[in-house]
Amino acid sequence: MNIILLGPPGAGKGTQAKRLEDRRGLVQLSTGDMLRAEVKSGSDLGERARGLMEAGQLVPDELVIGIIANRIDAPDCKNGFILDGFPRTVAQAEALDAMLAQKAMGLDAVVEMKVNDAALTERIVGRFTCAGCGEGYHETFKRPVKDGVCDKCGGTEFTRRKDDNEETVKSRLQAYHEQTAPILPYYADRGLLLEVDGMADIDEVTRQIDAVLEDAAAG
Ligand code: AP5
Ligand code: MG
Ligand code: ZN
Repeated sequence: MNIILLGPPGAGKGTQAKRLEDRRGLVQLSTGDMLRAEVKSGSDLGERARGLMEAGQLVPDELVIGIIANRIDAPDCKNGFILDGFPRTVAQAEALDAMLAQKAMGLDAVVEMKVNDAALTERIVGRFTCAGCGEGYHETFKRPVKDGVCDKCGGTEFTRRKDDNEETVKSRLQAYHEQTAPILPYYADRGLLLEVDGMADIDEVTRQIDAVLEDAAAG
């Protein structure tokens, strides 16, 4: 299956994409993670993206479209993928359709994770990530079983994103409402848009995603 997880910053896209990877053998394609890797490596592309990301603004379409076009060609994407954080503009959605059509691939479902803005700041400000394996955590909603030790890899170093602060969250939400929300009707018109309640707890959201994907697969 090829799936898009769509939702505002902090909706839980990354959290649920990792679970879909584990359970369905799909690969997570997160443009945010790919861009952060470019920033970390100090590449030209990373240098172009850095300031925009730190300000909570979208990076230019052609830059992320190029990244995804390369990544989607890799053999591991043949078994199915979960797009997390892409597309984020109508231009990106159109570019995705064109690149999939060229490869005789398609989309099976676009899952919208509905969350109200008030909850998002709390989720984002409390987030931290294992430096070793990338597992995501939250100070209140998803603490490691043993404080300071990653459940998955036993690592003891954690990182926080530079854009995870209250001011930047405001810009990120604004970018979502102005530039990303317009792609919802784009997918609704194609009969691909499915909704889940992103306000529910993490396990319940997983159950709802499973349920809507079963329905989509049943056709
Ligand atoms: P990106 O990395 O995609 O960030 P984002 O969209 O802002 O989303 P987040 O990663 O913050 O949230 P998430 O939905 O993954 O939530 P998570 O599962 O971590 O993009 C970053 C930047 O890169 C952009 O601002 C832009 O500059 C650039 N960029 C990326 N893609 C781009 C594109 N296509 N075009 C242009 N620019 C692009 O969950 C959040 C927290 O909440 C976690 O701590 C988690 O444990 C917790 N949590 C998750 N689910 C629940 C739940 N159900 N209940 C309680 N807590 C929960
Ligand atoms: Mg994410
Ligand atoms: Zn870890």
